[in-house]
Parts: sequence; structure tokens; C-alpha cells
Amino acid sequence: MAIDPASPVPKYAQLRDLLLDWIVESGLSVDDPVPSERELGTTYGLSRMTVRQTIDLLVAEGKLYRVPGKGTFVARPKIEMALALASFTEDMRTRGFVPGARDLTRRVVPAGGSTARMMDIAPGSPVHHIERLRTADGEPMAVERSNIPLSIAPHLDVFSLSERSLYAILEEEFGIILDSGEQTIEAGICEPADAKLLGLPPGSPVLSMQRRSFANGRCVELARSTYRADRYQLHSRLDPRL
Ligand code: GLP
Repeated sequence: MAIDPASPVPKYAQLRDLLLDWIVESGLSVDDPVPSERELGTTYGLSRMTVRQTIDLLVAEGKLYRVPGKGTFVARPKIEMALALASFTEDMRTRGFVPGARDLTRRVVPAGGSTARMMDIAPGSPVHHIERLRTADGEPMAVERSNIPLSIAPHLDVFSLSERSLYAILEEEFGIILDSGEQTIEAGICEPADAKLLGLPPGSPVLSMQRRSFANGRCVELARSTYRADRYQLHSRLDPRL
């Protein structure tokens, strides 16, 4: 396939699609180099500026990455985030990754006003506040901050969360089976402390999530999480109408 000069589609956008097809057809995999901007310009009869625009776009989309002085390479595909009431552990295992967790903070604190309101508990009532760095194959993926009422899982603190899934502990040790949930996901900028934990440059884009999970109509967890936007994407099936 070649660039069509008569097409209303800008040349840099045509090259984007051609390049993505070419990567698949040539069987290139993650970390394989793509041809230099000069080579691409010659192959497709395009100016260096147009080629650079395409590469910039593909880098911004997370499809390619540049290594200064070395070239441009095929990036890892993003992980599709399950839009379900799944645990991080289940979600990562389904996708073939080894899930992990590192405890950052675990303490019992009085629920603040907005946390209490969202969890439908009295302000000041004790909640487990758990902050964890979540990893996939050892790579930091997200910082998760969970709040769980002390009353429903009183001795939760005796169980190690670096070895077991929180949802599995709730189910197996406390008989809590989550049956519904709701989640809000929005674009955000990574806080400096989280950027350090996630190994991201300060100010990197992230996906900020807030999830409430329920069992028998009672709020079990209010979680606020920060996921790397360079590693995650959302994917959902669409129903024909609302
Ligand atoms: C997801 C949710 C969190 C929840 C976690 C439990 O990542 N966003 O709110 O705390 O799953 O995961 P696990 O059971 O692996 O500890």
C-alpha cells in the first residue's frame, strides 16, 4: 500500500495506518526497531517532517517508543482493564500476568466526612485504610487506597495482603461475597509521590478510579486508585442503546 496524495486523509494519518499494518504483517514484536524516519520518508515518498508527525503520534498513542540515539521501537500493548467487579489479582491472572502487592500503609482510621458519606457509615467510624502498590510481573501498575469498615472485617489486619488477594480474604475469612459495585474512571495527572512509586516522570497521565463495592446492599470497600495511563486502556462492549 502507498500514500494516496488525492485522499482527504492527511498524509501523516495515512502513514500511521500503513505503519501499524506493516508492523503486524512483518511480524514485528515488542522492542523490535522500526525503520528510521529517513528510511520511512524514502519508502513512502514523504518529507521528514510528515514522518516525524506520524512517529510523534504513534509515540503519544503508546504504540511506539523512542530511545534517544538508538531509534524507535514497538511498544508493549496496553493492558485492557476489566470493567467488572473483579479483583486486581483475578484481572491480572486472566491476562497472563503474575499479580503482586506491596503494602504501603495499613492502619485503622476514623472515616472522614466524604468517605463516611460515600460508604453510608457514621462519620468517624473506624475503617481499615490500606494503601498498596500493585504490580504485574513485578512492574508497578497502580497505587490502590482502600477503605473497609472495621465492623465488617474486624481482624483484617492479621492477614498479609502481599501474599493474598483482598477480595479472597474478605470472602474466605469473613464470608463477604461482593455482589455489586460502581466505578468512576477519569483522566488525571500523577501526584509526585505516586509517580515515584509507579516509576513515572512527575505529571504523567494516569487513570484515577473510584470504586464502591457492596455485599447485600452494604458498602464493603471504597477504593481510590491511580493506574498508569501508559499501561492501561479501557475496553467495553457497547449495547445498542442506553
Ligand atoms: C481492584 C479494585 C480495588 C480492589 C482490588 C482488590 O483492583 N480496583 O478496589 O481493592 O481490586 O484486589 P485484590 O483482591 O487482588 O487484592
